[in-house]
Amino acid sequence: MSSDLAEFIRGLPKAELHIHIEGSLEPELIFALASRNGVQLAYPSVEALRAAYAFTNLQSFLDIYYAGASVLITEQDFFDMAWAYFERAHADSVIHAELFFDPQTHTERGIDIGVVIRGLKRACDAAEAKLGIRARLILCFLRHLSEDEAIATLNAAKPYLADIIGVGLDSSEVGHPPEKFARVFAMARELGLHVVAHAGEEGPPEYIWSALDVLQVERIDHGVRSLQDERLMQRLIASGMALTVCPLSNIKLCVFQQLGEHNLRRMLERGVRVTINSDDPAYFGGYIHQNYLETAAALELGRDQLIQLARNSLEAAFTSAAERRADLARLATYCTKA
Ligand code: ADE
Ligand code: ZN
Repeated sequence: MSSDLAEFIRGLPKAELHIHIEGSLEPELIFALASRNGVQLAYPSVEALRAAYAFTNLQSFLDIYYAGASVLITEQDFFDMAWAYFERAHADSVIHAELFFDPQTHTERGIDIGVVIRGLKRACDAAEAKLGIRARLILCFLRHLSEDEAIATLNAAKPYLADIIGVGLDSSEVGHPPEKFARVFAMARELGLHVVAHAGEEGPPEYIWSALDVLQVERIDHGVRSLQDERLMQRLIASGMALTVCPLSNIKLCVFQQLGEHNLRRMLERGVRVTINSDDPAYFGGYIHQNYLETAAALELGRDQLIQLARNSLEAAFTSAAERRADLARLATYCTKA
């Protein structure tokens, strides 16, 4: 890869639509927060923790990810975590970010949902004011827990609905199909929230169908199993459905063995609205720029395809028509100058 192309990617105005903010907790910050809050960790050092980041599948990652999140106690902790992410995103020319957060990971430990949301919202406001990043929050339900617990979480979030743009569905996929959450997603839609869901990361194409048909999602998170089902591909292409793909995550979690085998380029060339995102950057070897960079190198993506990926992200963002126009104009200006 030429340094020109790397620089072009770095400056490309882009949206990040699939980032679990708890997955941006770097080991150094995990240790700093553990020390600040008197939390005992299972690893003796930053190096030992990082050395444990050798995953064989989604569950092997989630076990460590939930343990890492146990250091988050105060509103300031949530602010500090999100602010660290925004500084990195800004360096990667992210102009719009939609952050997933997992309230149940925290409320299960006795942390009030208000502590979580207030800390994150304060960081979103600071990102807008100080970095010019438009930042939004998407509340995710943990799919390994029951739908009743998801409903209780949505109810607990009601005082904060003005601070949330949507709901999502994450955690262990196989055995927890989207239709398990039909009622809570209907309630969320009724409240005027946007809806997205992880589907087709490890789970089969049928889960993507039910995310679309039962949950009525507006984007699919991952969705890399779509290529196994031609009728599904036709549906995605015809409807302009966006997929928030996370290439480095897919390698770390062994969804693909190597980046050169990833199907992102094939989906892009078929006309699927694919985007590139980081998922859990502290655990998977890089933030959004690194995902663009390594994917471009492995799949030999050219400038036009990289621009298309950035355009897809800005078009698939939950923005107003005026915001989308402004974002796309910013991309066009960049591309004529760069
Ligand atoms: N939670 C955090 N990262 C996730 C992923 N890649 N899939 C499902 N749930 C997650
Ligand atoms: Zn994810």
